[in-house]
Order: sequence, then C-alpha cells, then structure tokens
Amino acid sequence: MTTPFTDDEVALIRAVTPGCTDELVHLNHAGSSLPPQVVLDTQIEHLRREASRGGYEAARDVAADEVAVYTSIATMLGAHPREIARTEHATAAWNAAFWSIPMRAGQRIITHDHDYGANWVAFLRAVEVRGVKIDQIPSDPDGQIDLDRLAAALARPDEVAVVSLAWIPTSGGLVNPAAAVGELTERASVPFLLDACQAVGQIDIDVASIGCDFLAATGRKFLRGPRGTGFLYARDSVIERITPAQPDHHGAEWVALDRYEFVDGARRFEYWEFDHAAWLGLGAAVDHAIGLGIERIESTIRQRAEELRSGLREVGLRVHDQGVDRCGIVTATHPTASASEIATMFSAEQINVSTTHVNSARADMESRGMLSMVRLSVHCTTTAAEIERTIDVLRTL
Ligand SMILES: Cc1ncc(COP(=O)(O)O)c(C=O)c1O
Repeated sequence: MTTPFTDDEVALIRAVTPGCTDELVHLNHAGSSLPPQVVLDTQIEHLRREASRGGYEAARDVAADEVAVYTSIATMLGAHPREIARTEHATAAWNAAFWSIPMRAGQRIITHDHDYGANWVAFLRAVEVRGVKIDQIPSDPDGQIDLDRLAAALARPDEVAVVSLAWIPTSGGLVNPAAAVGELTERASVPFLLDACQAVGQIDIDVASIGCDFLAATGRKFLRGPRGTGFLYARDSVIERITPAQPDHHGAEWVALDRYEFVDGARRFEYWEFDHAAWLGLGAAVDHAIGLGIERIESTIRQRAEELRSGLREVGLRVHDQGVDRCGIVTATHPTASASEIATMFSAEQINVSTTHVNSARADMESRGMLSMVRLSVHCTTTAAEIERTIDVLRTL
C-alpha cells in the first residue's frame, strides 16, 4: 500500500473541489461525492455547446473526446477500451449484464448475503420468469463471502448460471475478496458478475487480476463524476458468448429487414441516446483520479476511515463494519438515538451523512438483526479536522 496524501496534498485536492468548504463536512461519498472543478467545467462547457450549436452538432465537435473516455476508463481498470460500455448508472450496467447471461430453469444464481437490494430484486424476478434458484452464500466469521462455501457451491458448475458479488457492499465497510472469487469462477467456467459500484475510484482495480467477466460501476460515488453516469466492463472473451438481451440499433446494426449484427466489443450493450455532457464529465473525473493516483486515494481513504471508526467508538457508537479488508464506508448505531435522528442532527450542523436501511441490504442486515444504521463515508478530501468536528457533534448526544 502506498502512502496516504499529506495534509498539504489534501489541501490542494480540496482547493480544486468547490464543495470542500469550511462550512460543509461531506461524509456521503458512498452516496454521491463532491466532483472536482474540472468535472463541473467539462459538463457546463458541453451544455453551453449544445445550447448554442444544437445537441447533435455539439456531439460531432467532441466525438474524439467522447471516445477518449473509454480509454480513460479502460486505463483505470487495466482493460481494453473495447471492453467498456457506457451506461446511466451501476444498476443499468449490472442489469445489462445479468439479463444477458443465459439461464436454464433449475440453475442457481450464486450470491452473497451482502449483495445490493437492486440486484436481489433482479434475482427474485429471475426466479419468477426464468425458473432459477437463489443460492445465498453466507459470510465467514469475518463478514466476507465464505470462500469454502462458494467453492462447494461451484462443485457442479453446470448447475450454476452466474456468480454475483458486491465487491464493496453498500454498507458495512467490507471489501469482499473479489480476486479469490474470480479464481474459483474461472476454474469452474461460470460467469462472474462483479458489482464494483462502491469500489471504482476508491480502490485500485486491475480486472485481469480479479478474473471477473462483467464489472458494473457508477460515476457519482467514489469516482467523483456526474450523477447519471456509469459503465459496464465486459471481458473480451465473454462478449461473443454472452450477447445483449435488449440491443438497440446502436448496439446492433440493422443490416437487413430480417437481420441485425452486433457491433464489436462491449458497446453492443449500450443504447444510442445518452447525456453527452455527463459522459465527458465522467471522463474528466476518471482522468482526475488517475492523475492523483488511485493507490494513494485508496490509502488515504482507508486511513481516514480508521480514524473515523475509532472516534465513533470513543463517543459510544457501535461500529458495525466487517471484513479483514475495510474501506471508506463506515456504519454505526447509537445506543439510544436512531440512525435517522443522528442524520437529522448532523444535517443541522452541515454535516452530510446517510442512513442505510434494510431495503438496500436485507439479507445482510436481517441476519445481523438490524433495520438501519448511520453511514458515514470518507474520501481523500476528508480532513482530520472534519472528523473531529463530526465526533464533537456526537459528543453532545
Ligand atoms: C453496492 C451497490 N451496488 C449498486 C448500487 C446501485 O448504483 P446506482 O444507483 O448507480 O445504480 C449501489 C448504490 O448505492 C451500491 O451501493
């Protein structure tokens, strides 16, 4: 692990982030982070271009810049640009992959307790419309996916349609061992769909070393990109085998009245229309993160999160984070105040936090007997002083 940013470096990063002010403490990066100025400028510049030139004409002007966004994302992931598809958010990316994976009635969808609510609803829908079964792998004593149970569940690969994993679940601080899961799915030749929504921008990613077939991500969270952006990574070797369930005439060429042909690469999972300003903004966010160094962002986030966890414990909160490997998402409960009471109290002090409810992570939270937690998430822009201010507010409880 590389060294975290120094205080001076953090100050420089904050100086180019308009939301980083003395008044506001933003501890909701897992919800939607604070974009750097360059993201804002890139978006606004393109919105102006559209307003003055016309949307289609403006898109022609920036065609090369739009292509460069694929290259930036691929660079960040250690992938090839043709393995990247643009989407509006992580769920759209995840669904594009999930519903394209062939499933036979009776086959199992393997998942983990901590999989995300939207993904779980898709599993339930697949049970209804495809006759598959959900095989829920529990957590090991550390809270991460139990790899022995997963290996056993993959013993008859023919019975398994897909393995789905939330790399960093929406709450609970956990970083699941994605590469170990990838090793098992590769050995079994079972498609591996990785939800990296909370991982991109927060941890350094190399898809080749993870061995996932699909990776779904969003722009607005730790990547600090615009809302309404996301992408899907689809590994080269699966693109021909697993083809889009719902292509349009951008992902597939309508070559004759009775025939279409998929375009090359992951772009076959895309639709024609999109928010061009936001896509360009996402590219700016990725370039900004790469410029800062994602490894250093990661180590800064981890350090700050540990500081926050110890501060919370000090003032009597119970920290519920799990896993051997922990990230910038910190979840806690207070002995008497509810999660929403704490969030309201923080809001009055201009401290942004969020709450996490059973609806987002039912399998995990029910198994731990919890209905809601307060979720605080840090980034490399978070300072020690901000953490102190947050803890001081809790002291008054
Ligand atoms: C783990 C995880 N997966 C998926 C999603 C969905 O992301 P999006 O809202 O961009 O579709 C979230 C959102 O919070 C999440 O935390």
